[in-house]
Amino acid sequence: MKRLTELYAGKAKTVYTTDDPERLILQFRDDTSAFDGEKVERLARKGMVNNRFNAFVMQKLQAAGIPTHFERLLSDTEAVVKRLEMLPVECVIRNISAGSLCRRLGVAEGQELRPPVFEFFLKNDALHDPLINDSHIITFGWASEAEIVRMKQLTSRVNSILEALFAEAGLLLVDYKLEFGRFKGELLLGDEFSPDGCRLWDAATGEKLDKDRFRQGLGGVVESYEEVARRLGIEL
Ligand code: TMP
Repeated sequence: MKRLTELYAGKAKTVYTTDDPERLILQFRDDTSAFDGEKVERLARKGMVNNRFNAFVMQKLQAAGIPTHFERLLSDTEAVVKRLEMLPVECVIRNISAGSLCRRLGVAEGQELRPPVFEFFLKNDALHDPLINDSHIITFGWASEAEIVRMKQLTSRVNSILEALFAEAGLLLVDYKLEFGRFKGELLLGDEFSPDGCRLWDAATGEKLDKDRFRQGLGGVVESYEEVARRLGIEL
């Protein structure tokens, strides 16, 4: 399968059309962005690491019954996926308090959240991805009632699968973001799952091994992603 034309360039990935109208190629770039694109740097090997990381997680989820857009790895930095009609919302689940939840609600970082907190955000960098609720989604037509129910159900199932997977590797899955899209009347998990879109802490030391290293200027960003991959048994 070959790239045809560039369909969309995001902050860390570029999407290409292919000779198959139902398939796209995702290219994972080394670009790393934070604060809605305010801070951007190229980090060597990150595209390759995230591509392999995402393939591993998507295949685990698929095997556990989560429908995803992922089809196969194409190269070190590319994957073939189904072409979805993406919903403009982001689904976040939080198992431990961190990030914007602490800033918004004034709660301390590191508290266990039971039941986990579920949040919707509007995918809009210019507006800094504002927090939204079901009512906004229905009124503005960003998704249907049934799709809201399905997104919550799938995001929560993903949580059980991935919390266990990361726990076995000595990691706490603090929070993460998922995006969904429509394909032939069904909702599929799209976008990516990588340390760029989740928080992972070492279960023993609490060390941050995700994109917070980049956001907070802690260094060793890709090295930490590689450490997580190594612990999960992902071949890089
Ligand atoms: P937050 O604490 O900044 O709201 O982020 C919660 C989690 O979701 C964190 O793991 C980062 C991820 N996330 C993204 O990757 N992209 C986004 O645009 C948002 C809002 C969150």
